[in-house]
Amino acid sequence: MNSIPNQTKDYELDERIIRTWSTFVPEDAGTAVAETLRSKWINTGKMEKLFREKLSAKFKIPNIVACSSGTAALRASLAIIGVGPGDEVISTPFTFIATNTAILEQGGTPVFADIDYDTLNIDPESVRSRINAKTKAIICVHYGGNACNMDALRKIGRNHGLPIIEDSAHALGAKYKGDFIGTKGDFVTFSFQVVKIINCGDGGAIATASEESYQKLKRAVWYGVDREEKKASRLDPLPEDITMLGFKYNMNDITATLGCVGIDGFDLPANRRREIGERYRREFSKCRKIKVTRYPEDNTPNYQIFPVHVENRTLFANYMWDRGIQVNVNNRRNDRYQIFGGLRNDLPNLERADGDVILVPLHSDLSEKDIDRVVAAIIEYEKL
Ligand SMILES: Cc1ncc(COP(=O)(O)O)c(C=O)c1O
Repeated sequence: MNSIPNQTKDYELDERIIRTWSTFVPEDAGTAVAETLRSKWINTGKMEKLFREKLSAKFKIPNIVACSSGTAALRASLAIIGVGPGDEVISTPFTFIATNTAILEQGGTPVFADIDYDTLNIDPESVRSRINAKTKAIICVHYGGNACNMDALRKIGRNHGLPIIEDSAHALGAKYKGDFIGTKGDFVTFSFQVVKIINCGDGGAIATASEESYQKLKRAVWYGVDREEKKASRLDPLPEDITMLGFKYNMNDITATLGCVGIDGFDLPANRRREIGERYRREFSKCRKIKVTRYPEDNTPNYQIFPVHVENRTLFANYMWDRGIQVNVNNRRNDRYQIFGGLRNDLPNLERADGDVILVPLHSDLSEKDIDRVVAAIIEYEKL
């Protein structure tokens, strides 16, 4: 396959390429959205409530608040914790920047812990070593839908009185020790942005096991007002007084309708992802040049993405692109960006991973033929 364009507009239109990501839209999404539009209630309403109920039931989540994005979910959680100027939040540098820009938005400082090279998740020991009097919270990311070592992180959190935010943008439907991500935890944030298993265009949610945090989060996503309680009088829909400052982060009913359809049809893309992920793990287990990341036995990953460590990444990327297979670096070490204060030199595992991790295509729109092509190309690369 010649003349594969670079990642420009042309490339976006080139249907010959096997993509790293896809946007999964269930077949009945259009009909469901049309119905919501016809109802004329498109603001936060009964569909948003239904979405929360469905999420709660499907993933055994005790308390859930829907919001406008995963970034909003992170920021609202940080706000509820009370993160502000002068506070430090220990976080992972190997993530999409939103995990850490949310800390900056709140006026806090991200303090980067190192990662575990094999899982790409934050290293609990490194987290412990960065705790000081200014530390206000810990953020971890279940990278690629492969859960962090939550036992160790929760123990650190308990011992130091620090809340943990689990950025679970990748992890809807994944499990840790038999529990869905979101069933337990202080603040567990989800994203329903376009490449996620549930795609609302944009959308988010926060799960919490704490009733107190739940009450605050409901208010945080709409100007400090609990929308379900707001009709205190016939005259004035707002309460007499508003005592906390909130955001405009509520989820509307159009978005929620897409979310409901996504939950109803969740098993189809989720099972497909699992099949592909398991096949890749089997096929690549003996490779030397490509190393699959480690999936601890206690974890049930959802394979939101499939990162691998690869020898000579540029060579590999060109080799795959030349065969019409998109491979991409998903996230760069966040400390490379000026906004986070500059490169650190105390993150050796991050340094290695930043130089050799790349995503192999994994999503529910891949055909068997596509997967065969990806597998064959990688096995062939192994022999070069
Ligand atoms: C790890 C991580 N956190 C947060 C986000 C932000 O989510 P959203 O795009 O819904 O704001 C993303 C987005 O992909 C992400 O990958």
